[in-house]
Amino acid sequence: MTFSTKHNTITKENINEMVITFYTKILKEDGEVAKVFKDKLGDDINNDHWQEHIVILTKFWCMIGLQDTEYQGNPMRAHFDLPLSREKFGEWMVMFFQVIDTLYEPELGIIFKTRAENIASNFMRNLQL
Ligand code: HEM
Repeated sequence: MTFSTKHNTITKENINEMVITFYTKILKEDGEVAKVFKDKLGDDINNDHWQEHIVILTKFWCMIGLQDTEYQGNPMRAHFDLPLSREKFGEWMVMFFQVIDTLYEPELGIIFKTRAENIASNFMRNLQL
């Protein structure tokens, strides 16, 4: 018999794991998305900028996955001055989906994937991409 090691509940701890896994992957794959992050936050995920980003993004995804109310930011505003494109959003989405599929059972993963797609569509529309 095989046992799945994927998460079948959403917790703050596994959202934090997901966020760290995602940005570690972005930096490791070192594509166009990584360039944007490196210019803004640096190339060392342990530096203060990255650690702050990880805390913020953990709160952001806890708002989505757990209806937590700690996130108080404005996601759109953070993206207005970045050199973004539809291709970069596509690259972001592929990596995000891969991380979600690795960590979560499909019925939970779909929650994050659907929201990410909707938010990315809104971003692209607002950025006129
Ligand atoms: C090509 C795609 C993307 C790139 C390159 C990107 C890059 C960035 C960067 C560099 C920051 C930090 C900005 C700063 O600290 O000043 C940021 C913040 C953020 N991003 Fe993205 N992003 C992308 C797509 C997305 C998507 C699709 C989502 C949501 C599903 C998202 C959610 C957020 C959130 C919540 C923040 C924090 C905003 C705040 O400070 O409250 N990003 N992003």
